[in-house]
Amino acid sequence: MPVPRETFLSNVWRDGIFDNKVLFCTGGAGTICSMQVRAFVALGGNACITGRNPEKTERGAADIASVRPGAKVIGIVADVRDIKAMEAAAERCAKELGSIDFAIAGAAGNFLAPMAQLSSNAFRTVMEIDTLGSFHTAKAVMPYLVESVKKHKNSGKIEHAGTGGRIIFISASFHFRGQPLQAHVMAAKAAVDQISSSVAMEYGPFGITSNVITPGPIAGTEGMERLSKQDEQSTKASKAIIPVGRWGEVKEIADATVYLFSDAGSYVNGVVLVVDGGQWRTTGADMGTMYIIPPNGQLENVKNSSML
Ligand code: COA
Repeated sequence: MPVPRETFLSNVWRDGIFDNKVLFCTGGAGTICSMQVRAFVALGGNACITGRNPEKTERGAADIASVRPGAKVIGIVADVRDIKAMEAAAERCAKELGSIDFAIAGAAGNFLAPMAQLSSNAFRTVMEIDTLGSFHTAKAVMPYLVESVKKHKNSGKIEHAGTGGRIIFISASFHFRGQPLQAHVMAAKAAVDQISSSVAMEYGPFGITSNVITPGPIAGTEGMERLSKQDEQSTKASKAIIPVGRWGEVKEIADATVYLFSDAGSYVNGVVLVVDGGQWRTTGADMGTMYIIPPNGQLENVKNSSML
């Protein structure tokens, strides 16, 4: 479905800054990642998105491609938990589109569960999708990013050939302060942040930059649908404790992505860019309350401290 440009991009970026460049994005049909890719394609680039669901991935690719006449966006079915599948996806992307200049490790899995109801396999599943998946993505694209950055050195001057050789990992802020029902995701995302640091350290000398974008509560996303209560009172309460007083827009994550990939972000390496209106500084467990989890771990019996 065509999406008005102002919903996924601010009016400050110049068309053509990603001309002849290619972005590889895992989980690229998701609500946030699809807008990041859409912004990149609108500004001149082509892209490959990967996902586990063939129909969702194909549909997502076609939808993103419609943003710019002549744009090429390929949907590749690949599970980030499978290193061979990721390597094959990256190889196909570079072969069909000519290069991989940028990457986003965006595939993630999440659900709410107290530790008492989190099986070993449930914990492992999220660790494998988020952490191992991000590691696999980095491993699969790095040879291509190294090639790209040879052609697009980041000298700090205006680069007429544009930029290249950059990777962004999508993380979360739960582990900054702690969050009940998210043991699996806190562990996984803390590790994702550190994988990005390792890439920044080990591949920085090649000219590659690696950064994390941590989205806060973004309106209309699958994450918000899965993880937050949607009733009016809860929505109002959740906005009230965000310093800027509102949920974010997908455009604000896409803008952060364009910044890190563009000339404007050339000297930014190894950071966690939190795009959340300041939320993580004011929220702890469940927006300021504590969960009391019963020994049997049943979610329906969980109380928060304000109910005692
Ligand atoms: N509470 C507790 N355990 C849960 C759970 C929940 N809500 N949902 C799944 N699990 C457990 C399963 O029971 C299973 O464990 P078991 O073998 O001990 O029974 C384990 O997690 C794996 O589940 P499965 O459905 O086989 O894995 P999957 O690979 O098909 O799905 C998930 C991965 C679980 C992360 C699923 O939620 C998913 O596909 N998410 C993708 C979308 C998403 O989460 N995006 C992020 C938006 S923020």
